[in-house]
Amino acid sequence: MSLMTWIDERFPATKVWNEHLAQYYAPKNFNFWYFFGSLAMLVLVNQIVTGIWLAMDYKPDATLAFASVEYIMRDVNWGWLIRYLHSTGASAFFIVIYLHMFRGLIYGSYRKPRELLWIIGMVIYVAMMATAFMGYLLPWGQMSYWGAQVIVNLFQAIPVIGDDLSIWIRGDYVISDATLNRFFALHFLLPFVLAALVFVHIVALHKVGSNNPDGIEIKKGPKGNRWSDTAPADGIPFHPYYSVKDIAGVVGFLIIFLAIVFFLPEMGGYFLEAPNFEPANPLKTPEHIAPVWYFTPFYAMLRAVPSFAGTQVWGVIVMGASIVILFFLPWLDKSPVKSIRYKGPIFKVMIAMFVVVFVILGYLGMQPSTPGRTLTAQICTTLYFVFFLAMPIYSKIDKTKPVPERVTK
Ligand code: HEM
Repeated sequence: MSLMTWIDERFPATKVWNEHLAQYYAPKNFNFWYFFGSLAMLVLVNQIVTGIWLAMDYKPDATLAFASVEYIMRDVNWGWLIRYLHSTGASAFFIVIYLHMFRGLIYGSYRKPRELLWIIGMVIYVAMMATAFMGYLLPWGQMSYWGAQVIVNLFQAIPVIGDDLSIWIRGDYVISDATLNRFFALHFLLPFVLAALVFVHIVALHKVGSNNPDGIEIKKGPKGNRWSDTAPADGIPFHPYYSVKDIAGVVGFLIIFLAIVFFLPEMGGYFLEAPNFEPANPLKTPEHIAPVWYFTPFYAMLRAVPSFAGTQVWGVIVMGASIVILFFLPWLDKSPVKSIRYKGPIFKVMIAMFVVVFVILGYLGMQPSTPGRTLTAQICTTLYFVFFLAMPIYSKIDKTKPVPERVTK
């Protein structure tokens, strides 16, 4: 009896391999945009592996944390590489995920039957934000400290429970050693929660099958291809076709990613901010506090809303709503077609506006505020919400093109 037969009688190894890889039929017309799911998995693995390695020398103690990171950078063998892979990896993760989500947006991948797949993706996104936020406190630099101070203080704006809640999160009246300890514990835990969520994401994907750049369901189309009489005619086995294609994506990604890790790890202050090379000092507020680039669009929306009667609560609500609204996307889009290829001019204008507005907000969130910038942020915040809230109307009246019966190319 072969080893494989012995295993298969006790564990469905061959069954799972076939159902999810060798005989899993994916649309044959995937393009560049379909690289980012597998790249996100690669970056998650990178974060977990380098993170565990960093944890071997990092000390989650307010008196030792900053120095332990310097020790990793200077004295631990290859410590500098492990740290830069992790810090650059955090930014790479968000770049990859923003592109992955944008793909969903342009091809309507959130539409029926993939609503739950999209929602699981959104839960992943929120968990990623929490992970990155807590990780940023760990080097205990000036921006770690003051960034965390600003964000945790936002919880104070919540009526009634705000004060108690923010103390509960910090474990103290200010960001302190207690906060650092719990953020370290949670920052270690959350990536494993992310990995579990990604598993659920893939289970949901394989239940409904992938969408594709044409936004039509290959499962509903004609059946029969050269591998199987019952498989969708426009499907090809994931393995070896897409496993090999994804390797090409991985190589391209690694060339860019490693070039940054080796030659530009701080990315001019965008990936590692200058004030974070100074140890945290609770008595000295930095001149300008800004989160890392991937949070700045939301931070700009928070600052765009003026405080009324001394409370920032409306800003917090707007910032929260800017993320919550993404969960509802599957029900806001009423277009008869999914993909941008067959959508009309209104959608194309709206999505172009959305991208421009998101980038401007990202820029504004990095800058100190001035009256002119605040006004721009207010206009952009309004347009951000218009993209979503007006979607039920413009997606209905937009002039769409007829969709093809079979996928094109
Ligand atoms: C750790 C983060 C994530 C990982 C590892 C991941 C992984 C994947 C993989 C491997 C695929 C299939 C390949 C592909 O279509 O690119 C996929 C598809 C998909 N993901 Fe994610 N994903 C993540 C986060 C997200 C987020 C944040 C969203 C959206 C909120 C999302 C929404 C989707 C959708 C809608 C699809 C189906 C796309 C289609 O078939 O056109 N994912 N994901």
